[in-house]
Amino acid sequence: MCGIVGFVGNTPCSSLLLDGLRRLEYRGYDSAGIAIADDTGQVRICRAEGKLTRLEEAFRAEPFDGTVGLGHTRWATHGRPTESNAHPHRVGRVIVAHNGIIENYLELKEALQRQGRHFSSETDTEVVAHLIDEALATGADSLKEATWRALDRIEGSYALVVMETENPDELLVARHASPMVIAHGDGCAFAASDVPAVLSHTRDFVFLEDGDTALLRADEISIFDADHRPVDRPIKRISWDPISAEKQGYKHFMLKEIYEQPARIVDTLRGRVSVDRGEVHLPELGLDADTVAALDKIVFVACGTSYFAAQIGKYLIEEVARVPVETELASEFRYRNPILSENTLAIAISQSGETADTLAAIREAKERGARTVCICNVIESTIARESDGVLYTHAGPEIGVASTKAFTTQVAAVSMLALLLGRLNGRLESDRAQELIEALREIPAHMETLLQDVDVYERIARQYSQATSFLYLGRGNQFPIAAEGALKLKEISYIHAEGYAAGEMKHGPIALIDRELPVVVLCPKNAVYEKTFSNVEEVKARGGRIIAIGTDGDHRLQNLADVMIPLPDAPDFVQPLLSVVAVQLIAYYIADFKGTDVDQPRNLAKSVTVE
Ligand code: G6P
Repeated sequence: MCGIVGFVGNTPCSSLLLDGLRRLEYRGYDSAGIAIADDTGQVRICRAEGKLTRLEEAFRAEPFDGTVGLGHTRWATHGRPTESNAHPHRVGRVIVAHNGIIENYLELKEALQRQGRHFSSETDTEVVAHLIDEALATGADSLKEATWRALDRIEGSYALVVMETENPDELLVARHASPMVIAHGDGCAFAASDVPAVLSHTRDFVFLEDGDTALLRADEISIFDADHRPVDRPIKRISWDPISAEKQGYKHFMLKEIYEQPARIVDTLRGRVSVDRGEVHLPELGLDADTVAALDKIVFVACGTSYFAAQIGKYLIEEVARVPVETELASEFRYRNPILSENTLAIAISQSGETADTLAAIREAKERGARTVCICNVIESTIARESDGVLYTHAGPEIGVASTKAFTTQVAAVSMLALLLGRLNGRLESDRAQELIEALREIPAHMETLLQDVDVYERIARQYSQATSFLYLGRGNQFPIAAEGALKLKEISYIHAEGYAAGEMKHGPIALIDRELPVVVLCPKNAVYEKTFSNVEEVKARGGRIIAIGTDGDHRLQNLADVMIPLPDAPDFVQPLLSVVAVQLIAYYIADFKGTDVDQPRNLAKSVTVE
């Protein structure tokens, strides 16, 4: 849930560390800190509660520098977000930054306290620093040896970067169930919890495996596996442009990411669909006609916005491939007793590939014999590594906490999956597949059209941002978009919102309708248009305020609505990819009008790697 960056080299590294933390702020931002050692082994630590700017201010007030250092940006799990709980933590000669959770920390802490050790924070991480310090004090002959001894006693997850004042020319890095990359530069080495932290310095990364430790020096990197044997890990070249991790002139990352969607969908479809032959190529999933013919069902597991992509997947797959699909929140699935067989395909959808509940759910599915695949945006993330097959979305790094481009690329991915399954099991004719692939390929251009006119959203923001509650309604594959629209609005504007199946409105939410309640209705021309239109009339009859998202040229809907957002006409199969842009922009402009922290909404985190 936090971000780590580390550097060892021959040049001063304070700016590099602070810059790395800035690029990792989406990993956590309730406190931050850096530790830097100069070549005499003198280590200075600067930490601050709150966002990174607070750390930068504190650092500028008393600057220091050196050639080895580490930084950390935190999202609290154990202990409040205070300066004393901020990382790095120092105990004796040892300085530690940590991501993850030490599950047996209380037991270890009590044992260490009984030995007379004093703790200065409420964190689980400080236990790690004590354990390493204790190992050094009791005969471990190196930082590496001491860290191994400490890790033997730890249960839980960690990505660790450790410095020791006696050896100020090296960093020790360890990973278990929390991501960590390392990289070699020109006369230096980097460590980071995520690629963007140091992407402006290198593109060639080593993704550590669970149980790995690595010793980083300016001129060499040594990696050891879980059994402490020296090991080589492959170097992977990352093609993300470092500038794509910047705001590029947009007011917020979220807005930039909304505008990036057409290009990212093109990237996601590229090389995978053929209109001419009506075919989809996803060899990375390892699915063939026999496997698909034998499927008894598909089970999607996901959290948050990714869960709504799964729900759209259900509509699309059942429609074109006629395979039964269940969708389940990963946090529920993992603690049930789900019925799966070796003919079940379990699909995790996760932007980060690190969400703890989704990871646990896919492990559970695997244990019960199901075939597992995932739809994921982060190369080499844990869920990607643990699934039998991976369909990567090519959204690039998503910085805004509220997911946008990751969602639409997930929907593009489930759309391709639906087509693939339908072609493999023969339920989808080639002609129909060609039409649907063509419709998918037209989506980026339609999105561009939609993104050209934002006046309507500014108007909605001015008119409705004082509302205390919103209702979103949709049917069929627009129902998940209603839920996603409501989620977006509450996440970033802090206005209560509910997404409801339009047909269910009369069973409850209708009681809420009055002149104060804005109702966003997803009503494009599709198979359930007339049904949804009736619901719009029901809202109107009760004096509700209607924001209609419908097909361009639908004057009947326009006449009924207080505000109409026109969508380009497109087949039902791809409509969610257009209507979602409208609900993203409604949420964005309302939040911006209210002046909330759009990219880093309160209490939320981009990547939820704890339960
Ligand atoms: C967090 C994020 C959401 C995201 C969810 C699932 O709650 O704030 O935007 O949808 O996690 O994340 P994942 O990385 O698994 O898609």
